[in-house]
Amino acid sequence: MKTPAVPKALKKSYRVAALPGDGVGVEVYAAAKEVLAVIRQQFSVEIHLDEQLIGGAAVDATGDPLPPATIAACRKADAILLGAVGGPKWDSNAAAQRPEKGLLRIRSEFGLFCNLRPVVTHPALHQFSPLKAEKLAGVDLLIVRELTGGIYFGERRRDAESAHDVCSYSRAEIERVTRKACQLALQRDGRITQVDKANVLETSRLWREVVARVVAEEFPAIKLDNMLVDSAAMHLLTRPGDFDVLLTENLFGDILSDEASMLCGSMGLLPSASLRQDHFGLYEPVHGSAPDIAGKGIANPYAMFLSVALMLRYSLSCPEVADALEQSIFHCWENGVLTRDLVKDGCTTAQVTAAVCERLAAAHQHL
Ligand code: IPM
Ligand code: MN
Repeated sequence: MKTPAVPKALKKSYRVAALPGDGVGVEVYAAAKEVLAVIRQQFSVEIHLDEQLIGGAAVDATGDPLPPATIAACRKADAILLGAVGGPKWDSNAAAQRPEKGLLRIRSEFGLFCNLRPVVTHPALHQFSPLKAEKLAGVDLLIVRELTGGIYFGERRRDAESAHDVCSYSRAEIERVTRKACQLALQRDGRITQVDKANVLETSRLWREVVARVVAEEFPAIKLDNMLVDSAAMHLLTRPGDFDVLLTENLFGDILSDEASMLCGSMGLLPSASLRQDHFGLYEPVHGSAPDIAGKGIANPYAMFLSVALMLRYSLSCPEVADALEQSIFHCWENGVLTRDLVKDGCTTAQVTAAVCERLAAAHQHL
């Protein structure tokens, strides 16, 4: 007789496809590996890391920014943990061999249509934001960015005198990301601000119509409002505390999330999760490969650690370990364990990593 499969909730052994990529991606991934080693020892969660190439590193080794071996490893995994892709070395590459192409293909190949970028300001970090501290109190917003459609994936062409990037969205693409945003909003304050450019763009008018219908028919408890993207860019700076969930298309979400990262003080603090309908997901810091500081051992690893926490929560069914990791991170912030993007003469990546690991190991005693 076949042994019954262990239910997912009881499974404490996971496979993670680990894709360090380029630039500081390699450094923050190495830091995450140390945190995962503590989790393995202290929390009895077995996480097998299957390290593979992506981005410029993959182009150099194989000519392909997303080699078949990487795709195969991701298929066998419960989640993907990614560092960053890109760098000046590959800037003049043809489109198909650009490192970013590997990232765009992995998102699309695995149907990761829903990108979450939580922006939470911690009082210990208020002083590092260009915004006044009084504007930052209570900021806790979640950007839900559609990730596999729109202008990023439309037809692209170029002739001698012109260039074209087509933006299109189907109803189904808008519906599925709206449902996800609604489910997440219901676990928060229940408010969604849908951001578009409906005064100009036809795709935006479709977004507005579809989001309104999904909310009215399926999630009547949600309080929905709409905002034009230019106005949203301004309100993120004038009253960021008013947002709960901000739902938007691929390109607007890309731009607004970099802007929103400054509420926290640094790009080096913003994590992300890219999800589909099931538990599978890709987790990566938002900051990118930061070629200017790569190789110096000073990259801020917090966005990566927060991404690991999201992975533990959304894909690995270990919410208590995710909480412990986040608490350890906050403890380090409160004790001034910060890198040079935030403070002069700040800690190195290794020093921050050691502090977080030490706190996490100690936190376990109290669980
Ligand atoms: C991001 C990045 C990517 C994007 C690039 C590297 C393709 O900026 O994840 O925000 O534009 O989506
Ligand atoms: Mn971006």
